[in-house]
Amino acid sequence: MLFGLSIMVTLALLAALVTTGLMRERRLHLIVFFPTAASLLSAIYLAEKLGQAHRFSPTLLSVHLPIAISTVVVLLPTIATGILRWNRPSYVRPHRYCVIAFLALAVLALGTGLLLLLGPHQDV
Ligand code: HEM
Repeated sequence: MLFGLSIMVTLALLAALVTTGLMRERRLHLIVFFPTAASLLSAIYLAEKLGQAHRFSPTLLSVHLPIAISTVVVLLPTIATGILRWNRPSYVRPHRYCVIAFLALAVLALGTGLLLLLGPHQDV
């Protein structure tokens, strides 16, 4: 329940982050980034707790986990290129490509995570 709520909040904040980026509302973009990162980390923490309390399909897990880890890894260059983008217009493309990679991975992580939850699993 709390996990579902944290996913909804994270998705809403991510939508606000992308919108403020596209609208070139830099200050708002930065303001929205911090709660988005906090919400994303909380969702990951709660997912970890769920993982400890249930035994999920090992096949699905072997697909979901590398995607979930890659999402967090790609977040780092997304932040780095965002910081560089602040004063250097030449960083438009690097930040854009990182954002696209991050969002694509996040959608895949969410989809495979939902498959895990909806698929067969046992309480530990
Ligand atoms: C998950 C994290 C982030 C996402 C999803 C995101 C998303 C976006 C998007 C969609 C754009 C528009 C890109 C374009 O026009 O092609 C953008 C622009 C931008 N972002 Fe981010 N961003 C993130 C993190 C950051 C961070 C941490 C910073 C800086 C500290 C940052 C700074 C900027 C700047 C300076 C722009 C350009 C705004 C302008 O043109 O005035 N972003 N971002």
